Amino acid sequence: MAGRLGLLAWVIFILSASAIVNNNSVLLQAAALSNDIGANYHIHDSTGASGNFSKVFEILVKCGIRNLRVFSDEINAPYLDYYGASTGIALTVSISNSDVQRFAASFEDLTKWHQDVLYSLHITFDVKYITVGNEAIPGPSTDDVLTVMKSLQLLNNYSSFGDIKVTTSVGSSVLGDWYLPSSGEFKPNASRAMTDILGFLSASQAPLMINVYPYYAYAADPANVPLDYALLNATYPMVHDGSLEYSNLFDAMVDSFYSAMEKVDYSDVSIVVSESGWPRDGNYNFTTPELAATYNRNFLLRISSKVGTPKRPDASVKGYIYELFDGKSPHFGLFDKTFEPIYPLFQCSF
Ligand SMILES: *[C@@H]1O[C@H](CO)[C@@H](O)[C@H](O)[C@H]1NC(C)=O
Ligand SMILES: *[C@@H]1O[C@H](CO)[C@@H](O)[C@H](O)[C@H]1NC(C)=O
Ligand SMILES: *[C@@H]1O[C@H](CO)[C@@H](O)[C@H](O)[C@H]1NC(C)=O
Ligand SMILES: *[C@@H]1O[C@H](CO)[C@@H](O)[C@H](O)[C@H]1NC(C)=O
Ligand SMILES: *[C@@H]1O[C@H](CO)[C@@H](O)[C@H](O)[C@H]1NC(C)=O
Ligand SMILES: *[C@@H]1O[C@H](CO)[C@@H](O)[C@H](O)[C@H]1NC(C)=O
Repeated sequence: MAGRLGLLAWVIFILSASAIVNNNSVLLQAAALSNDIGANYHIHDSTGASGNFSKVFEILVKCGIRNLRVFSDEINAPYLDYYGASTGIALTVSISNSDVQRFAASFEDLTKWHQDVLYSLHITFDVKYITVGNEAIPGPSTDDVLTVMKSLQLLNNYSSFGDIKVTTSVGSSVLGDWYLPSSGEFKPNASRAMTDILGFLSASQAPLMINVYPYYAYAADPANVPLDYALLNATYPMVHDGSLEYSNLFDAMVDSFYSAMEKVDYSDVSIVVSESGWPRDGNYNFTTPELAATYNRNFLLRISSKVGTPKRPDASVKGYIYELFDGKSPHFGLFDKTFEPIYPLFQCSF
C-alpha cells in the first residue's frame, strides 16, 4: 500500500510538473531544487574552466546545487578551501581507485593525506561522505576498499571526524540480473566483498553509494527498454514486479540494489546515488542535447521530489548529477568553457 502511495505521489508530481518537464525552454530554478542534489566535479584542467574554483562555486550557489563530489587525485585543497569557504556547500570526497591501492598498501600515506588534505577540507566544508573507490568492485582493488574504509574510520574517530560517513561507490557491475528490481542480486565475484562492506556500513550507519545510469541500459537494449521509461518521463507504470509498479528505470535500478542488499541480509543500509546523467552526443540518436536535457532535468526533479522508491517509499533519494564539465567521459558536461549551460537546463546565468 505504502509503495502505491509513493508511486502515486511521484506520478502526481510528474503530472503537475509536466509543463516544465516537457518544455526545454522552461528552466529549473534554484528554488525548485532540494538540498539533496549534488554535482560531480572533475578538475580536468587546473588552468581551464574546470580549474576556475571561484566561478565553479558561483555556478553552484546560483543554480541551487548544495553538494559537490570531488576526487582525491585532482583536489587542490587550499584553492577549494579558499573559494568554497562560506558557500555552505557540503562535500563528498571520492578516493580515486589509484589512491585506494596506494592507501591500502601504506597506512602512512593515508595518514598523511588525512592530515594534509582531509583535515583542511573538513574545517572549511561539511565533508559528509568519503567514498573509497569508484566502481572498484569487482576488480583488482576489491579487497583494498574495505581495508581503506576501516583505516579511514579509525583516523576519523581519532580526529573527532566521526560525523563523516565512510563508504564506497559501486555501479551495476556488482549486480547480476537487475531489470526486474526484485531479481537484483550481487554477482558471485562481488558478493563476498559487498557483504563485508555492508556489514561495515550497517554498523556505522553509512549509506552505500551507487552509480545509476538508465542511459547505458537503454543504449544497450533499446528494443526492450522504452525510451520514456529510461528518461523518467513515462506517466504510467511500465514494469510490474509482484505488487510493485515502476514508471521509471531509475527507481527500478535503485530498488534492484535494495533487493541485492536484502538477499545478503542487509536491509538496514540506505542508498545515496553518487552518479547519474545522460550524454548529449557520441552515440547517434541515443545522445542528443534534447534527450540529455530531458533526463537530467527529470533526474534533478526526481531527487527534489523527496519521494522514495516503490520498495522504500519512505526513503527519499539523494543524488549527484554527472557532471559539471566534459572530461574523461566526454559529453556528460552541463557547463562549457565559458560557464554557460551547454543546453537549457538551469535558470542561472553568469
Ligand atoms: C514551450 O516554450 C515555447 C517557447 O517559449 C512555447 O512557444 C511553447 O508553447 C511551450 N510549450 C509548452 C508545452 O509549454
Ligand atoms: C575565472 O573565470 C572568470 C570569468 O570567465 C574570469 O574573469 C576569471 O579571471 C577566471 N579566473 C581564473 C583564475 O582563471
Ligand atoms: C565478474 O564476473 C562477471 C560475470 O559474472 C564477469 O563478466 C566480470 O568480468 C567479472 N569481473 C571481474 C573483475 O572478475
Ligand atoms: C569509530 O567510532 C564509532 C562510534 O563513534 C565506533 O562504533 C567504531 O567502532 C569506531 N571505529 C573505529 C575503527 O575505531
Ligand atoms: C519524454 O521526453 C522525450 C525527449 O524530450 C520526448 O521525445 C517524449 O515525447 C517525452 N515523453 C513524454 C511521455 O512526455
Ligand atoms: C533512432 O533512430 C532509429 C532508426 O531510425 C529509430 O528507430 C529510433 O526510434 C531512434 N531513437 C531515438 C531515441 O530517437
